[in-house]
Amino acid sequence: MKAAITATGKYLPPDKLTNKDFEKIIDTTDEWIQSRTGIRERRILKDPTKATAFMCAEAAKEVLERRGVSAEDIDLIIVATISPDMFFPSTACLVQDLIGAKNAWGFDLSGACSGFLYALVTGAKFIETGMHQKILVLGGDKMSTIVDYSDRNNCILFGDAAAGVLLEPAKDGYGVLDARLYSDGTAGKNHLYMLGSGSLNPPTHDTVDKKMHYLFQDGKVVFKSAVIGMADVAAEMMTRNSLTAVDVAYLVPHQANLRIIAATAERMGIGMDKVAVNIDKYGNTTAATLPLCLDELNLEGNLADGDNLILVSYGAGYTWGGVFVKWQSI
Ligand code: COA
Repeated sequence: MKAAITATGKYLPPDKLTNKDFEKIIDTTDEWIQSRTGIRERRILKDPTKATAFMCAEAAKEVLERRGVSAEDIDLIIVATISPDMFFPSTACLVQDLIGAKNAWGFDLSGACSGFLYALVTGAKFIETGMHQKILVLGGDKMSTIVDYSDRNNCILFGDAAAGVLLEPAKDGYGVLDARLYSDGTAGKNHLYMLGSGSLNPPTHDTVDKKMHYLFQDGKVVFKSAVIGMADVAAEMMTRNSLTAVDVAYLVPHQANLRIIAATAERMGIGMDKVAVNIDKYGNTTAATLPLCLDELNLEGNLADGDNLILVSYGAGYTWGGVFVKWQSI
């Protein structure tokens, strides 16, 4: 028995940070950002008393409401994030409290931009073994707390959001049918990281002065790896599952850069009309991008029973992967 995605939901903070806003704080232009990345604006959670757990809980509430399921029916909560409210308790435990999922257990998963894909596959396995019937898989990041707004190379890329799905046992032939997940710490460790705040460089005045509590990315190097990695894994998913371009209803890619997304679509031989794109509105929301895309496709009524979806991601680690989902309309 496989796991079907039976509901989706999201939380988007109300405040927008546009490219024009960036023109006032760093040396950049709307034209540069749009042409290099495809991003026009992103959402920022300005309220300092709210963070990733709040956004994930709001997304979870929407998932439950759409499916008409009570929080008490949830068996497991998995939260993919690299910006947890705190190291412990886990964001999953904070979400459990906020939504009242008192019969669930849960944990956080750190997979950066591939976090949701890793969490989706992990959750699916608990359904496949028969251990659980209802699993919330959430991806959320308050990236604005780890982005250096004086670093023009990176600050324009990221936004805040959370989104998620409900996993339940699928009908025969439906659900999460195949996955390939990868990591390469050797290639990835020097190009995309946050040095401070962990046990190697615990916070001190010195680490803060050196801005080690902020994300660092060598964009050009990561871009080159991401273009190859995401396109390769998308092609691999098609080959493994004997899918041609016409068989694919939608490519649902991580939203890091529109040029990486377009290169992946080209490699698959599909037009951009079959690609979920919302990077223009939200930027890179790290663990939230894939469920955000799924939720938009779902809400707009674009997903039909039996549709073949290919989900792909690439991010810090490096981490990357692909998942093949046969969509089940409930
Ligand atoms: N506004 C204007 N100029 C900027 C800028 C900004 N916000 N940020 C950087 N620049 C400058 C740089 O200083 C550099 O100038 P230099 O050539 O004088 O040193 C130049 O623009 C770089 O331009 P270009 O080579 O055209 O950029 P790019 O095509 O490499 O695009 C990124 C830059 C960051 C958008 C791109 O590399 C990227 O998206 N990287 C990876 C993202 C990713 O996939 N992450 C993985 C998951 S998170």
